[in-house]
Amino acid sequence: MASAELAGQIDFEGWRKAARAFRLAGVEPAEARFTVAGAVDNRSLFDTAPSREKRLGRRAPETAFTVPKAFVDIAQEVILHRSADRFDLLYRLLWRLRDEPDLMKVVSDVDVLDAMERAKNVSRASHKMKAFVRFRMIEDEAGEAYVAWFEPAHRVLEKTSGFFVRRFTSMRWSILTPDGSCFWDGTALAFGPPATAADAPQDDEIEEFWKTYYASTFNPARLKVKTMQGEMPKQYWKNLPEAGLIPDLIAASRDRTDTMVAAPHSQPNARLSKAIARHVRDGSYEEGFVASTLEELRHGVQACRRCDLWRDATQGVCGEGPVRRAALMIVGEQPGDQEDLAGRPFVGPAGQVLDAALSEAGIDRSEVYVTNAVKHFKHEARGKRRLHKTPVASEVSACRWWLDQERRLVAPKVVLALGATASLAVLNRKVAVMTERGSTLPLSDGSEAVITVHPSYLLRLPDEAIRQKERAAFVADLKLARARMGSTDDSVAD
Ligand code: URA
Repeated sequence: MASAELAGQIDFEGWRKAARAFRLAGVEPAEARFTVAGAVDNRSLFDTAPSREKRLGRRAPETAFTVPKAFVDIAQEVILHRSADRFDLLYRLLWRLRDEPDLMKVVSDVDVLDAMERAKNVSRASHKMKAFVRFRMIEDEAGEAYVAWFEPAHRVLEKTSGFFVRRFTSMRWSILTPDGSCFWDGTALAFGPPATAADAPQDDEIEEFWKTYYASTFNPARLKVKTMQGEMPKQYWKNLPEAGLIPDLIAASRDRTDTMVAAPHSQPNARLSKAIARHVRDGSYEEGFVASTLEELRHGVQACRRCDLWRDATQGVCGEGPVRRAALMIVGEQPGDQEDLAGRPFVGPAGQVLDAALSEAGIDRSEVYVTNAVKHFKHEARGKRRLHKTPVASEVSACRWWLDQERRLVAPKVVLALGATASLAVLNRKVAVMTERGSTLPLSDGSEAVITVHPSYLLRLPDEAIRQKERAAFVADLKLARARMGSTDDSVAD
C-alpha cells in the first residue's frame, strides 16, 4: 500500500503531488491511500493489508505524463465534496487516463459520471451559500461588523469567499462554518479554524427584517412546497431566521389563496371596454390622439396600438393621483402582475416598498401622481406564472406619447424617475441611475427630474445590511424630491 497524508480536507495541491508520484511509480488505484492529517479515516478499520501479489502487479513506472484540463477542473471541485472516497475516485480517473486519454469525454462512464455529479453538488452548495448566508450585526472596538454562521453542504467556504468579498467590500465581516472561518477587514481576507454555532451572535434586529421581508414576499398562490424545499433545502432552514415562518405560512396559504381567488377580479369594466372598442372602430383614439383630461387619456391608453404590448396585457394601467398640479409625479417602469389585474399602478410588492419609503420621507401618496413609463404589463408565461420582462427602448419610446400627456395634464414641479426605464422615458436618454441619482436635472417644460432606483431593486437585494443601506439612500432621494416640490397646497385631490 502506498500512502500519502494531505495537509487538509481540501488540500488539492497535496493530493495532486501525491497522486502524480503514485502514478509515475505505477501504483494501482487499489494500492493508493490518501489520508488527511488529524482526520479519522474510518475506512482503515475494515481494510486488509494489500497482498504481495497485488504489490508485485504494479504497472511499469512512467517518466512523465500530462492530463487534460477538464480533469484538473473537475478534480478541483470534487475535492471539496464531503465524501470520504473522493481522493480515491480522482486517483482512479487519473490512473485510467493513462490508457484512456479521452476518458473525460466519455460522459456515460461510471467514474466520469460520478465525478460530474459530485462536482455539481459542490457547485450547488456554493450557490446555496451565496443565497443563504445571513449576517448578524455586532459592535466591536472598531465599530459595526457582521458575523454569519453557516453550515455548507460541502467544503465550499474558500471557493465561495471571493463572492462575499466582492459583494460586501466595504463592510467588515466573518463567516463561521464547521470546516473553518473566514474574515474580511475591508482590505484582506484571512482564513481561520472551524467554529461552532455558539461562536456566532444568536439574533439581532436584522432577523426581524428578514422575517418581515420573507412574509411580505411570500405568495400563497404560487406555493409549491416541493419546489420551495428544492430551492431552500431543509438542511439550511435552521440557520435562516425567516425559515421559522415557513410551516405557518404554508399552513395559512390555503386560506390566503382562497381569499385571493374570491377577491373580485379586476378586469377592465365592460362599459369601458365597449366604449374603447367603439372608439377604436370609429378611429377617435387613433395613433395621434391627444387627451384633454386624464379620463380621456385613460380611454386612449386602452385603445393604444402604438406597440404590441397591449396584446398580452389584461388592460392598460394609467397613472393615478391628483388631477391637476400634483407637485410630484412618480414614474415607475411598467405595471406588474398585480397592477395589470387591478388596473392601478404600484399596488403589488414594489408598491408596498414605495409606500413605506414615501411615508418615511414625509410624502403623502394621495398627493402624488403615480404612473409608469410603459402602460401595459410586459411578461412571458412560465407555466401558470407571468414573469416580468423589461420593456425595450422602442416600447418605452412608443409609450412616451402617454407619459408626456400625463406630464402636460398634471404639470408636476418634480418628476421622480424610479430606475433606468423610467429615467429613459423622462429624460429621453439612457441614464446611469447610480451616478445621476441624488441631484436634480432640469426638464424642458420647466419642471425638474430626480433619479433614483426602482423599489423592486431593494426587494431583490439578498443581504439585509446592504438592503438597509440602499433603502436609506432611496428614502434620501425621496426627501430630495420632497424638498424640490415646495408647497403642495395647490394640489387638488382626485
Ligand atoms: N413596478 C413598476 O414599475 N410599476 C408598477 O406599477 C408596479 C411595479
